[in-house]
Amino acid sequence: AMIGKGEHRHFMLKEIYEQPQVIGDTLNAFVQATTGRITLPDLPFDIAAIPRVTVVACGTAFYAGMVAKYWLEQVARVPVELDIASEFRYREAPMPEGGLALFISQSGETLDTLEALRYAKRQGQHILSVINVGESTIARESHAVLGTLAGPEIGVASTKAFTTQLTVLACFALAMARARGAITAEQEAAISAALREVPARAVDVLNHDERLRVLAHEVSEARDALYLGRGTSYPIALEGALKLKEISYIHAEGYAAGEMKHGPIALIDEDVPIIALAPNDALFEKTASNIMEAAARGGKVLLLSDAPGVERMRDKVRWTVTLPTVHPFVSPILYAIPMQLLAYHTAVIKGTDVDQPRNLAKSVTVE
Ligand code: G6P
Repeated sequence: AMIGKGEHRHFMLKEIYEQPQVIGDTLNAFVQATTGRITLPDLPFDIAAIPRVTVVACGTAFYAGMVAKYWLEQVARVPVELDIASEFRYREAPMPEGGLALFISQSGETLDTLEALRYAKRQGQHILSVINVGESTIARESHAVLGTLAGPEIGVASTKAFTTQLTVLACFALAMARARGAITAEQEAAISAALREVPARAVDVLNHDERLRVLAHEVSEARDALYLGRGTSYPIALEGALKLKEISYIHAEGYAAGEMKHGPIALIDEDVPIIALAPNDALFEKTASNIMEAAARGGKVLLLSDAPGVERMRDKVRWTVTLPTVHPFVSPILYAIPMQLLAYHTAVIKGTDVDQPRNLAKSVTVE
């Protein structure tokens, strides 16, 4: 069937707005109706016995994988290796027998990811993929597939595929944590409750659309932008910078907030907006001090945090967006949404082709 933009001006905006629905659909596939427990379908390997996970993907899917690395290490206590597919497939990494190789791809057709999968297979790994297009080559060549139920994604810049990838990966990390006895029943219950709440909180986040549209005018004047975050907010900073580059053609860098002093701090002046992602989690104070370092050097900071974080930092930063207070485990899923909206509105202001940015392809099936 023909897919339309509905009431929206671009596919990208339509797909951003679909997120509460498709995150909910994706989640429902893992939530046991009676108990509310997050479970996985039967897998052809034992997740409790995996010595190491290797996560490989490209582009936005790679950043989903990076969040998964933090989650898996933190809650499932399993060692995780992470690489982009175009590097991984050629670097001849030795892989311990019986490890799990995890591939993430919206299309299921990205050539580098597919070749990385074939390499991992030759290395005796169990192959698990997180895929949006069920009838795809990567899905076919995997031992098991966990589907994202994002539906067709038309905008070249990935949005709902990313947040549904995060949703699946969160469920996987939680199930693995339980299987390995790495978390208590209370911790598990708290995380699964937080996950079930994500669709409703995503609606709250979308309510900041107009505010982000106003702030996009500031970003649209810039030649460069810097995105900062720590922990699981670091991959979201990288994804925010990627979204801005892809569709507005403004140079943007994502950086680990704690690494800023080792280089990018030299770039800071009034003309480089700094987008700081700082949910009120265990790392908040660390990020807050990095934000103050940037502000002290004339940097104009847009802070994204929840109410306590915004309260604490309001007089130190130029702009704030107050996101809902949630369990820190799920904040990367929600903080991805303002990254998308900020990039979207900036691109619209700049008059670029939002759904079909120059030089980019939706799926890269060549080297
Ligand atoms: C292209 C797209 C990106 C996407 C990447 C990986 O570069 O423009 O949006 O993240 O490929 O695609 P995949 O289909 O493997 O997720």
